[in-house]
Amino acid sequence: MSAPAPPAPAAPPPPKKDTLTIVFDGKPIEVPPGINLIEAAKLAGIEIPHFCFHPRLSVVGQCRMCLVEIEGIPKIQAACTTPIKDGLAVKTTTQKVRESRAANMEFLLINHPLDCPICDQAGECKLQDNAFGYGEQRSRYDERKRQYAGYDRTAIGPHVVADMTRCIQCTRCIRFCQEIAGTGELTFLDRGGRTLVWTHDGKPLANDWSACAADVCPVGALTTKEFRFRRRVWDLKKTPSVCPGCNIGCNISIEDRDSVVYRFLPRLNPAVNDYWLCDYGRFLSESLNAREISKATVREGSDVRDAIVPAAVERIASEIRSTIETDGPSAIFFLGSAHLSNEENFLLRKIADHIGCGNRDVVVDRSRVRRMKSKTEWIEGDHAGANYAGARDMGLSPGPGGHGLTDVLEGRWIPQIVVVADASFAAAADDAEKVGRLRGARFLAVAARTANSLTRAADVVLPAASLAQKEGSFTNVQGRVQWFQRAFLPPPPARAHWELLLLLGVALGWGDRNWTPAAVRTQIREEVEGYDEVTEQELAGGGLMKKGLFVSTGAV
Ligand code: SF4
Ligand code: SF4
Ligand code: FES
Repeated sequence: MSAPAPPAPAAPPPPKKDTLTIVFDGKPIEVPPGINLIEAAKLAGIEIPHFCFHPRLSVVGQCRMCLVEIEGIPKIQAACTTPIKDGLAVKTTTQKVRESRAANMEFLLINHPLDCPICDQAGECKLQDNAFGYGEQRSRYDERKRQYAGYDRTAIGPHVVADMTRCIQCTRCIRFCQEIAGTGELTFLDRGGRTLVWTHDGKPLANDWSACAADVCPVGALTTKEFRFRRRVWDLKKTPSVCPGCNIGCNISIEDRDSVVYRFLPRLNPAVNDYWLCDYGRFLSESLNAREISKATVREGSDVRDAIVPAAVERIASEIRSTIETDGPSAIFFLGSAHLSNEENFLLRKIADHIGCGNRDVVVDRSRVRRMKSKTEWIEGDHAGANYAGARDMGLSPGPGGHGLTDVLEGRWIPQIVVVADASFAAAADDAEKVGRLRGARFLAVAARTANSLTRAADVVLPAASLAQKEGSFTNVQGRVQWFQRAFLPPPPARAHWELLLLLGVALGWGDRNWTPAAVRTQIREEVEGYDEVTEQELAGGGLMKKGLFVSTGAV
């Protein structure tokens, strides 16, 4: 008798897929696991309207706007709370879905004022958009709408104004304060049809990121004191930039109209600030409109005279040339700034190199240390200027045998000439003792936009641009190099710091007047360690970590 045949080997398990297939309205698409149906639909180019879902907040299924049909489930489902699985077939355009959305909109609008023309959220309101996209043309509701006397147009903190007649109880603001800020100031008060969102025990909404509650509010129930009713949002132009408030380097949109900056909004970068901004950085927007130095001035004896910019630059160059002849280049001191771009600090260091001067430095200012939540972790800033790391990378530290800023401020060395590339640097610019030390030089030149003790003490003052008026790159505390673009031109004769520095370089026999920040970045790539892979495309795409640095915050 022959031995029984060995059992057939088990079929190998099907290979594990990295993606899931979801069929939207008959069209299959591959999506990564771990997202919900709203996000999956977005990848397929399909919009599922929603209010309460936010990609970084817990899912609560509160608003019922995201209703869809799912094959095999008899009742209509909320897309935000439905876990995705392979093969799920979803319908987003059936009559049942359309009627459910319209009914939900009618329900939400029962108590919502129908006065978009006088609401400051108009133009960026999800309720307005979804009413247009998914609601009915007419309301069947004739009764009086709910009023919230005492809870309308009322400040609930230093920055946020609440108007509960507009609230749709989506809880995004409550979840932001609990889950991101971790401070939990907001809660629901009262019950049923009288429910409203307010602060616990009337304590203010005053966490460091409080205005983000207004960002996440999909309607006009929370707005910021600083921006509300100043401009219609569709009138504003958005320019990608980087917050000047600290060296976390949060990504912002500068929003301006007719060369006036009206607000900063967060610009999504999951590796840095995700969807958020701190209040301090956000409300620096207004400071960009200040202009106190509007022309070049040159001191002649006890007189301060107006001058054209090239003549004022030539005056600085001639002082440098004559000092080199009498005392050598080591009698000159160049001070860069963490508020200037990589390109500008690079140009300043190259000018110092060109004349053979190793005395250069940058102000260290740890006066405002901030924190910001990226998608995956908290980032700690350690400098009040956006580009401290970049200024150091560009070579603004004393060269061999050279002097630094503390040598000057502590009286160990008195230079003949001090060139301050950005006079708006921290408290030192208004500290009489520190200004006195810098003024100890025979000749003091500064570039500035706002006046301070240093500009008043200077022999030559050059009118310089604001962040909104120039382009360049900053390197943040993580080592991420990020691009900021120009929103509008500086008012003549003010010029970007890099243009003023190029004028000075050319007057001293170095550089090319036609260089642009992009041309300077080409040189940085060739000369500065770690910057060789920071291409223009990488900068435009959200920034790149300098080579050799550990990327700890996940890809953008
Ligand atoms: S105030 Fe805005 S974010 Fe907060 S629950 Fe109301 S609608 Fe939602
Ligand atoms: S954390 Fe720093 S970079 Fe970010 S918004 Fe605040 S000040 Fe600006
Ligand atoms: S977004 Fe799904 S219920 Fe609100």
